[in-house]
Amino acid sequence: MRASSRLPAHLETNALTTALRTLRRDGVEILDLTVSNPISAGLLFPAETLRKALGSEGVSDYAPDPQGYLAARDAVARWHGRGVAHDDIALTASTSEAYAWLFKLLCDPGDEVLVPSPSYPLFEWLARLEGVSARPVPSYFHERWHLDLSALETSIQGSTRAVVIVNPNNPTGHFLSRTEWHGLTELCARKGLALIVSNVDRCHFSTLQYLLQLHLHSKAQLEIKITQRLVKQHQARFYH
Ligand SMILES: Cc1ncc(COP(=O)(O)O)c(C=O)c1O
Repeated sequence: MRASSRLPAHLETNALTTALRTLRRDGVEILDLTVSNPISAGLLFPAETLRKALGSEGVSDYAPDPQGYLAARDAVARWHGRGVAHDDIALTASTSEAYAWLFKLLCDPGDEVLVPSPSYPLFEWLARLEGVSARPVPSYFHERWHLDLSALETSIQGSTRAVVIVNPNNPTGHFLSRTEWHGLTELCARKGLALIVSNVDRCHFSTLQYLLQLHLHSKAQLEIKITQRLVKQHQARFYH
């Protein structure tokens, strides 16, 4: 049987997984910052509140909605608070699923999206599973990371459908400046490209800080607190 060419040609275990298996087998204690299950990460959940919600009337009614449960979308719209209506929101089981929907919505097989890089490494594979290619366009570092808007513009070709940005970025931590944001939105509007923006690490940053506080010594905690304050100040300037 031949598998689809959207999958990797070889599926052998990579060096990182092999090393991790060896450490686990040898019983070495590992601080795994990739753990994203909130229970495994030790985040506290209000068990009583959840039990009450699950026992409430209507919880067993079956009323599926392809955009996601209306009450949940309403709650997200209220939380967002910037004029976003529940009809503008689609709930997915993960960002991976959301990217898959967006690539299907925006691209035909063989089309491409541009990814200012370094960026989230999974984009290559998430796009490839949809028959789309994620083409990296290097950002550059001069005292801080910068989007290379002219490189983005010259990279656009007939099959380009979107630019994918992570803000704040994983793995660089780069926040777009106002000037970069305006330049990017102007470029996408002028060239008729969609702009996909992931804010996922606004949440991940808090989780990461929590995990690090559990494990690191007080000096590191102080540095993390200072970093978080700077992040909040930057977010307040950028988003409001
Ligand atoms: C940019 C970005 N997108 C998505 C994810 C996680 O995706 P998912 O919600 O599919 O677990 C991460 C995790 O590090 C990420 O950095």
